[in-house]
Amino acid sequence: MPVPTAGLPARVRIHEVGARDGLQNEKTTVPTEVKAEFIHRLAQAGLTTIEATSFVHPDWVPQLADAERLFPLVSDLEGVHLPVLVPNNRGLDRALALGARRLAVFASATETFAKANLNRTLEESLAVFEPVVTRAKDEHAHVRGYVSMCFGDPWEGAVPVHQVVHVCKALLDMGCDELSLGDTIGVGTPGHVRALLAALNESGVPTDVIGVHFHDTYGQALANTFAALEHGVTTVDASAGGLGGCPYAKSATGNLATEDLVWMLRGLGIDTGIDLGRLVATSEWMAGQLGRPSPSRTVRALSHQEQ
Ligand code: HMG
Ligand code: MG
Repeated sequence: MPVPTAGLPARVRIHEVGARDGLQNEKTTVPTEVKAEFIHRLAQAGLTTIEATSFVHPDWVPQLADAERLFPLVSDLEGVHLPVLVPNNRGLDRALALGARRLAVFASATETFAKANLNRTLEESLAVFEPVVTRAKDEHAHVRGYVSMCFGDPWEGAVPVHQVVHVCKALLDMGCDELSLGDTIGVGTPGHVRALLAALNESGVPTDVIGVHFHDTYGQALANTFAALEHGVTTVDASAGGLGGCPYAKSATGNLATEDLVWMLRGLGIDTGIDLGRLVATSEWMAGQLGRPSPSRTVRALSHQEQ
């Protein structure tokens, strides 16, 4: 095991999004039992935060229309947090009724994506989230606030840092416990990551509430993650096997693959508690279910090989 690298965190918490962000864009319906097995296998590989599903409108994301059937199949997993996405009070009702204790609202840094993803203007969507977060906090639930399109937007181009800061502060002010900065279409670069994190700190947002969520469209996801680690970020979102995309952002490709992330962190001496061999085997199994190979370089390199 390599020694920890000076200036980088000793431990990173991986927020696994494969079962939600990874699958939400799949055209062919993945059976609920397969999703449940995927989540169980991810837990056996050592992931402790596994985003399970979304309580959104079933017509908007048909792949996740089975949230009510899936959640009870995984909610007894010991020692695993199972965050779920809720877009509004109706989604919160559905999630709380099943005993979900980790919730996520999802805002956008841009007007166009707020409209495409939530059918609301940016400010309207924040107004919808406010009572959701208040009620979730009254129920002592943990609430994550996603912010999509933090770096670029397919319709609006480069996104000014101040727009992102505004939305992040609004989410924290309403009571969110943590943020996830989404590079939804994967156009960010390390310099932009540094600038955004510095601007957030300058506006009073501490690094310890910030998570990062990179997509790998331009091959920058690991470099961007490294820049965030250097800044002190310790929560990194990733998707097993690099599954993913976003149904309402056409140019979004896969998320940062969890295996690629674990490989880099392991090389840096950063502890994740993940069994890479088991994780690769899980992504190979899931690739078999989906009928196409994983795009993750690490999964491809380690498939059928001894760790
Ligand atoms: P809307 O059509 O404006 O909904 O959609 P509405 O509020 O007008 O309600 C219309 C009907 O839908 C009503 O029923 C509601 O009860 C029902 P009616 O009274 O007509 O019979 N309804 C619901 N039913 C079930 N569950 C609900 C729900 N809400 C309303 N939660 C809405 C607005 C937010 C519902 C819709 O736009 C939606 O579901 N959007 C979800 C989109 C989504 O999931 N996108 C992907 C996640 S974001 C992402 O992937 C990015 C991220 O990974 C970070 C990154 O990469 O950047 C997080
Ligand atoms: Mg995403």
